[in-house]
This record gives sequence, structure tokens and C-alpha cells, in this order.
Amino acid sequence: MFTVYQEKPFLKTHDCLIIGLFDQPVKFTGSLSAVDEAFSGELTELVKSGDISARESKIAKIHTFGRLAAKHLYFVGLGKEKEYSFERLREAFGTAFKSIQSDKREEAAIYLDSFISEQVDEMDAAHAMSEALALSTYKFEGYKQKSNEPEKELNSVTVYAEKADAEEVRAALTVGYVYGKGTNSARTLVNMPGNLLTATDLAQHAVELGEQYNFEVEILEKEEMLKLGMGALLAVNQGSTEPPKMIVLKYQGKDDWQDVIGLVGKGITFDTGGYSIKTKAGIVGMKTDMGGAAAVLGAMEIIGELKPEQNVVAVIPATDNMINGHALKPDDVITSMSGKTIEVLNTDAEGRLVLADAVTYAKHHGANYLVDVATLTGGVITALGTETTGALTNHEAWFEQVLEASYEAGEPIWRLPIFESHKKRVRNSKIADLNNSPGSEGHAIMGGAFIGEFAEDTPWVHLDIAGTATTNKAGCLGPSGATGVMSRTLALLVERFEK
Ligand code: BES
Ligand code: ZN
Ligand code: ZN
Repeated sequence: MFTVYQEKPFLKTHDCLIIGLFDQPVKFTGSLSAVDEAFSGELTELVKSGDISARESKIAKIHTFGRLAAKHLYFVGLGKEKEYSFERLREAFGTAFKSIQSDKREEAAIYLDSFISEQVDEMDAAHAMSEALALSTYKFEGYKQKSNEPEKELNSVTVYAEKADAEEVRAALTVGYVYGKGTNSARTLVNMPGNLLTATDLAQHAVELGEQYNFEVEILEKEEMLKLGMGALLAVNQGSTEPPKMIVLKYQGKDDWQDVIGLVGKGITFDTGGYSIKTKAGIVGMKTDMGGAAAVLGAMEIIGELKPEQNVVAVIPATDNMINGHALKPDDVITSMSGKTIEVLNTDAEGRLVLADAVTYAKHHGANYLVDVATLTGGVITALGTETTGALTNHEAWFEQVLEASYEAGEPIWRLPIFESHKKRVRNSKIADLNNSPGSEGHAIMGGAFIGEFAEDTPWVHLDIAGTATTNKAGCLGPSGATGVMSRTLALLVERFEK
């Protein structure tokens, strides 16, 4: 995909050359003066007339008519240099690649030096570019009968970085692309419908990842779950004809199996709500209830590619939440793997049940630090909307690490509290240790507080992605549908982890 040259981009022939412009106001000075000269100052006129704008994410396309070796120039607006950031650059590149994709261009060149500022160096720009390329051009193929015409896709990008070491730029491009591709794999899993992505299919995907990256793979079947006493996961699966799977992937990047990061992802392949059944409007879209599992698998793909010196265990409890004569009912009392008993007040609060056993099992595999990711509550959408993931924790320092990773990944999170009063509500049952639905106030907090009962003293962060796992708006970094949210945050968290 990428070729890197440590030179200026004006001599080699390309279908298009992408150049960044800061709004300060626009000046074709320094290395860009060659471009303006080639056009005998006419570009400056185009800036004056507003045909070329350097405002944030504005794209101006110019045909060169042979005045430069490249056939077309794509000027990308970067806004004011003072307000410039990695995030803004990633969006600007996303907009540029979407434009190039809709113009059906198969190859492009980029003048990386024109995207550099005090805040963003060559390596950052290379990472932002390749990540944006993967993210912005993502499509879910779907299941429509195909036309015979193959679609033209961008398949070759030449990067000119005069001032940086070409090897280092190449490495940064690879890392950015891996982060983008891992996110896209998560998106694809979430976009797949429940009939075509069952717990068995999810497990098969994990097995394939394991083969590709040499992870140790363990897929627990129902019989083994019974032996281990995973009564919470089994309870949710009771009404289904699809077998449940407890999926475990282990990646060992250190000599010893110590300081293990446990990544736990909710893998409900379809959530009907069970006997506390969802409404006919509320049930549509519940194929995405394995968004947490997808985030964990996307992160494992990135980890498999980049091989950080860390230890990771990924645990995914997978089943659908269905109804039949055997199904779990409200008022039932079940026993989780931890031994804690749970009074089920709402079968639609199934995520916290399967995660209870998964968190216990992650600890069983030696996890010393936990993050769980789940499309857990509608309440988090009410609290934080669809752009911010809800976070809860039992450990300040561990939360700080997750927060920093999310910031760097451009996947914002915001914290909700767990106070003693919240724990009391989760523990409020006359006949069991816990209840799974203590009333409608503070749903998102209750969901997290319940899972926290199983994390116990192990540092733990819960990420509720019910609002962020999907979007109904196409943006500069991807289409509507699954976002793959938290794949990058989890992978960065692992890469940057400090004890
Ligand atoms: N999977 C849902 C949460 C959800 C809602 C995800 C909307 C994505 C979009 C979850 O299992 C659920 O049904 N939660 C209930 C919890 C309640 C019964 C305590 C909810 O949020 O209403
Ligand atoms: Zn539910
Ligand atoms: Zn659910």
C-alpha cells in the first residue's frame, strides 16, 4: 500500500498529490513556493477568490494541466495552526481520502511535510494518515447481489517526507494502518446480523485470530461451563437453541505470566430481552449487542500485529438472549461462577450476567488488571449521548491509564460514579446476594456497579459503549453503522501499560 520517499513530491508522476494548507492566512511559502511558481502565482488568486480554502477539512481539487508532474492537486484545509492537533489531522485526512475514493482514484501521493506543525511531527502525521486511510475508506460489503463491475479502490499511496527518516515514517504508517484495520474488523463483526454471526461464529473468528497470531485459544463448551459453575452465562443461554461459548485468547509478550491485562467483552449476538422482552422498535439493532466482544477482538488483532511486551487475556462470553420454555425468567435465582447468587429481576439485564462469569474467569486466568467493554445500558445513552463512552472504575490509577489511551485513540470516555449507596442497591435482594436490576434510576451506574461486585479488589474499568458502538451518521472517518469503538483504546492501553 505505502511507498516512502525522502524527497520533494513535485517530480514524479502521480494521479493526485495531496497537500495540507494551514489557515494563517494561506501562504504558498517555503517548500510550497515551488507549487505556486509552477502556477505563476495563480494559486494565490484561487485562495483570494475562495476556490482554495484552508478551513478545517475543506478540500480543493485543482487540475495541473501539466504544470506539475502530478495530474491533480488536492489541497486539504487544516484550519488555524494554533488549534491544530493529531485528532484534527486524522479527520482532515479522512475527508481527503473519502473525496479521493468517491473520485475513484486508485493511487495518490502525499506531501507529508505540509501537514507538520509544532504539535504534530512526521511520525504522528504518518500514523494519522494511514489510520485515517483505513478508517475512512471502510465499507461493509453486506449481502446484496453484486454487479459485475469491480469497484475501483485506492490501493497505492506514495508518501513524500523530506525531513524525516524514511524507515521511521514507514514504521509509523504500518502502525497507523494496523490500528485502522483492527477497528474495521471490529466494525464488520458488529455489522453482521445475528443469524450469520452466532456465538459459534464468533468463536470461530477468535480461533482464526489465534492461528494467525499464535495466541493460545480456549473455547469452553456448555459441558465445561457446567463443570466450572458458570451459572450466569448458562442462565442467559437457557432459552436458546444456539450453544454458548466462553472464548479465551491469551497473548504472552513477557517471559512470565505476570501483570496480566484482562480484556472482557460482552458477546450477546442478539438481545431479544428474554421474557422481559424488548419492544418491536427497541429490538431492532440488537445484533450489535456483541460490540464489546468485537472491540476486544479488534484490539487483539492489533496486539497480534504489533506484539507489545505485555501479557493479555481476552475473555468473551458469547450467546444470544432468546426465549423458549427453558428460558430464564424474572424472579429466578441463579448462581454465578464466583459463588455469588443473583436474583434476576429483568432478563433484559443479561449483559451484566454473562460479564459476571467472564470477569471471574479472566481472574481465574491470572488477570491482574481488568477492562470490560459492553453495550450494557440504554441509560448511558441518556446520560452521555452517542459520542461518549461511559466509564466506571474501582481504581483511580488504572482508570487514568484507560483515560489516556482513550484520549490518544480519539475515543472519548467520561466517568460516572460508584458510591456505597449504589453498591447497596445492587446488593438489595431478600433472597440472593445481588439483584440484576435495581430500578430505573441510574441504569448505567447500576450495570457497572453489578459487574464491579465480581471484579472485587482487582483494578477494573467498565466501559459502556451502548451509545458509541454504532452511529447513524456517516462521518469523515467512516460510514454509518458500527464504529469499532474501543478497539484502538484497548490496544493502546496494552501498548502503553505501566505497572
Ligand atoms: N443490550 C441492551 C442495552 C442497549 C440498549 C444496547 C440500547 C444498545 C442500545 C441491554 O442488554 C439492556 O437491555 N439493558 C437494559 C437494562 C435494564 C433492563 C436494567 C436497558 O438499558 O434498558
Ligand atoms: Zn438486554
Ligand atoms: Zn444486551
